Amino acid sequence: MSRTENTDSNAQDPGASALELSRRKLLIGAAATAAASAPTKGYAQQPGAPASARAGAAAETPTVVKVGMTVNGTPRDLDVDTRTTLLDALRERLSLPGTKKGCDHGQCGACTVIVDGRRINSCLTLAVMHDGDSITTIEGLGDPRRMHPMQAAFVKHDGYQCGYCTPGQICSAVAMLGEIEAGIPSHVSGDLTAAATVSADEIRERMSGNICRCGAYSNIVDAITEVAGSKA
Ligand code: FES
Ligand code: FES
Repeated sequence: MSRTENTDSNAQDPGASALELSRRKLLIGAAATAAASAPTKGYAQQPGAPASARAGAAAETPTVVKVGMTVNGTPRDLDVDTRTTLLDALRERLSLPGTKKGCDHGQCGACTVIVDGRRINSCLTLAVMHDGDSITTIEGLGDPRRMHPMQAAFVKHDGYQCGYCTPGQICSAVAMLGEIEAGIPSHVSGDLTAAATVSADEIRERMSGNICRCGAYSNIVDAITEVAGSKA
């Protein structure tokens, strides 16, 4: 596709245009970070390296970008190092430690948050990619005095033991029911053309990205089933 065609199609689709802008911003930031850090490795530290390369090594400053996000309904502006994950931005910069860091490698689901209605692993995405996004963490779903129905169901059904995986489980469960409501099939859906149903098999499959090392799975399924039933 030519550059002109691309611009035209974006003009017709504001969402695509915003995505393109945000992608471009990320790429520029990443390239700048690489440029700033590369000379410090090896060559620039050699005694014979030119003064300009040594100066580059001295200027090992992170690339910082402004990011504006709506977090739990509140607009938040941040200056973030382009290498900062969304998980670290939430926990370390916005003081929202409810979202947990388990593996930090996309394997446990403890860091699940809801971004524009979709659940994602916040350890696998950079904060700079979420300029303009709306993010909901466990703190935004409810608090001990006004719990979200899913939080209340986890308490009622003992859907946790140590509780470390629980914020991710609850955020994932809330968004997962939205996926079923939207008719999105899963790997175990028998009929892809029929409306998705809430069965224990569907819940287990759809929640399989959220690991619970305490093994509270059967109670978690009970809690989600109860909330799904109350919505039906
Ligand atoms: Fe993100 Fe484990 S901490 S998936
Ligand atoms: Fe302990 Fe899930 S309740 S890891």
